[in-house]
Amino acid sequence: MRKHDSPLFNGPLGEGEAAVGVGTVGSSEAIICQGLAFKRKWQNKMKAQGKPHDRPNIVTGANVQVCWEKFARYFEVELKEVKLEDGYYVMDPEKAVEMVDENTICVAAILGSTLNGEFEDVKRLNDLSAENKETGWDTPIHVDAASGGFIAPFIYPELEWDFRLQQKSSSQVIHQYYQLIRLGYEAVIREDSSDTGREARGGHSESPPRARHPRQGHG
Ligand SMILES: Cc1ncc(COP(=O)(O)O)c(C=O)c1O
Repeated sequence: MRKHDSPLFNGPLGEGEAAVGVGTVGSSEAIICQGLAFKRKWQNKMKAQGKPHDRPNIVTGANVQVCWEKFARYFEVELKEVKLEDGYYVMDPEKAVEMVDENTICVAAILGSTLNGEFEDVKRLNDLSAENKETGWDTPIHVDAASGGFIAPFIYPELEWDFRLQQKSSSQVIHQYYQLIRLGYEAVIREDSSDTGREARGGHSESPPRARHPRQGHG
């Protein structure tokens, strides 16, 4: 599936290159995997710069699905929510970018808001975040495309919400919503193939020592 999703989201794949990502049982797991990858990546960057790395935060709209709140609570990341306003029920990109600081591990946008299905303005968020790059923070964007990820590429192919955007780092989409498969299946697709994703899933960069079977002996 990842192989098919990446071109669908205009992933920057060259000839013979494989898409980077992970299959999960649902969007909550995908968001947790990707959230952890963002957290580790930010921690590694802060450590390398000799800066404190114990107060990560994430910026979202108050309309996000509850799994983002769970991620923040369980994995000790401060959730900074952009409040909604009367008549405006999605994240305001200007306010989101104002909330970003050096400790922001990512800004999460939704393509298909949980409250009303509305698409957030990912392009505007991207452009404002790109301007913010001057600060040196280079904050990535994750698009929670649980529902919109299989609508936008077909109905609104011109809409720039995907890997065409420079700050866009990852996205996830739910396949079972569209009855493409019978079992719960979800994929998170990343732009960055660094090891942080593997670390976040509990893997190791080097092979861990293996316990020997008693019959293997010691020679
Ligand atoms: C926008 C959005 N994000 C995340 C989720 C969580 O997905 P799951 O129930 O597959 O964990 C949903 C589910 O409805 C959703 O609509």
